[in-house]
Amino acid sequence: VIRRITAPEIRSRKGGDPIVALTSYHANTAHIVDRHADILLVGDSLGMVLYAMESTLGVSLDLMIMHGRAVVQGSSHALVVVDMPFGSYEESPAIAFRNAARIMKETGCGAVKLEGGNRMADTIRFLIQRGIPVMGHIGLTPQSVNTLGGFKTQGRDTALWPLIKADAQAVSDAGAFSVVLEGIVEPLAAEISHEIAIPTIGIGGSKECDGQILVLEDMLGYNPRPPKFVKVYGTVGTAIDEAVKAYAEDVRSRKFPANENVYLLK
Ligand code: KIV
Ligand code: NA
Repeated sequence: VIRRITAPEIRSRKGGDPIVALTSYHANTAHIVDRHADILLVGDSLGMVLYAMESTLGVSLDLMIMHGRAVVQGSSHALVVVDMPFGSYEESPAIAFRNAARIMKETGCGAVKLEGGNRMADTIRFLIQRGIPVMGHIGLTPQSVNTLGGFKTQGRDTALWPLIKADAQAVSDAGAFSVVLEGIVEPLAAEISHEIAIPTIGIGGSKECDGQILVLEDMLGYNPRPPKFVKVYGTVGTAIDEAVKAYAEDVRSRKFPANENVYLLK
């Protein structure tokens, strides 16, 4: 029997073997990624990747639950973490708990993730004390794109390093089992990784992070303009283009369907 990886198991891997994380939005991709990854993140990036939204702000709780359930159904080994969408947790710890509990009950996932350091520490602690493992997310937090003024790398001004370090420390002290460091200059991401007690998961971070995460579609070669921090490992966009082109040609030339693709009378 294959048992799922738990949040406490991820927590215990600080400084050990690097943690492999990828996003997954669907049962079919979850099934494949589950064979290789420790964590499947149902990221609210799905709003941009699947639904062509300009930011993640328009993603709803119901949408996250639909995709979260699909990823849990399609996997059996990795820890499934579901993003709390914008507007579902910032207002108060009680509202955050109500919505996080819905995510846990309706998807069967093992943890939730929410954005914010110091300002979310009380909420993180509140959820954990009530049975919900939380992954933090600091640095470039996409749900704050409008106050950050764009998707900008954080920590270029070293005068602001203490604030970002304080965010990491606050998330760790609040009891999060790990924290995503997104879009943070490399030396700062490395220092944070060495300083805090919980595993850091980098994306545009550092190889010194305790784990790494990428958006699956970006690393598969399905995003025509991937961000700089992505290493592209696949040619899925090209593979789909070639298959669809071949199908269109076969239909137009009546090569498809052939006899083996129809029900002949015996
Ligand atoms: O939504 C997402 O995909 C994420 C990862 C990039 C960390 O939050
Ligand atoms: Na996200």
